[in-house]
Amino acid sequence: MTQLSLAVDLAGFKLRNPTLNAAGVLGMSPPILKRVYDSGAGAVVTKSIGPEPRTGHSNPTLVRTSDGFLNAMGLPNPGAEYFADEIKTLKEMGVPVVASFFGGTVEEFATVAHTLSRAGADALELNASCPNVCEEMGMLAQDADSLEKVTEAVREETRLPLYVKITPNVTDIKSIARAAVRGGADAITAANTLMGLAIDLEFRRPVLSNVTGGLSGPAVKPVALRCVWEVSKAVNIPVIGSGGVTDWRDAVEFLLAGASAVEIGVAVITHGMTVYGDVANGLRGYLEANGFSSVQEVIGLAHEY
Ligand code: DHB
Repeated sequence: MTQLSLAVDLAGFKLRNPTLNAAGVLGMSPPILKRVYDSGAGAVVTKSIGPEPRTGHSNPTLVRTSDGFLNAMGLPNPGAEYFADEIKTLKEMGVPVVASFFGGTVEEFATVAHTLSRAGADALELNASCPNVCEEMGMLAQDADSLEKVTEAVREETRLPLYVKITPNVTDIKSIARAAVRGGADAITAANTLMGLAIDLEFRRPVLSNVTGGLSGPAVKPVALRCVWEVSKAVNIPVIGSGGVTDWRDAVEFLLAGASAVEIGVAVITHGMTVYGDVANGLRGYLEANGFSSVQEVIGLAHEY
């Protein structure tokens, strides 16, 4: 019997299976991302890279909540110039890389995209949706016109597959996804973290130094699934699901809802590095047990109810 292939094509970037790590959760050093790949991920996603080095917010930046984590890191990163070398190192190690990036202005988004493309990334993920630096630069993915302009400017700088990661913190995620498509996005990642707040009873104040943070983990899975469902109906480009995927069952739900691949974030903290391979193997078992011969066959199947 021939081995069933889990390969997927994310707008021209071919992955051996549809699992990726979610940006940010594991940092960005090449050895850690190499471990993600070696443990079975289809490709790795870097932490979001900006134009200049940023230290991010002061501690506390992370707090555990019911079935999830709330974080406000403040986009700490070493800057695109420095990180270009890390991408080269990852590529030399044979790791397929999606470079996540952000900027504070249209020009910054375009410049960083240019730098990361030249460094040899396989694809780019435009982080339009960090919830924790809004006072500084607004949340791009909450405004369709701005998102379209930024995506367009980035599109002009790169021929790499361009994924735009959007936020669930909007009234109508479909119109935001359509704006990204008008700007030239090749795929949509749905969705980033959900804005939340944690209060400390004893200190009688917010736990996070930034006050609010982004919620991720199993707690957000139904929201993320709904986002994938809506976005995949609204656009004709691949959707990458992100939000609360812990095991292969979650991954299958996302595929059935319309995702072509899934990003796994918090589960690497709660379940360890083997989670990517475990999800991929479990997905293979599901496909085989149900008579499917490829991942493509299940994408969006739940829409035919
Ligand atoms: C941060 C960025 C994000 O995109 C997110 O979803 C959560 C946190 C941050 O760096 O603060």
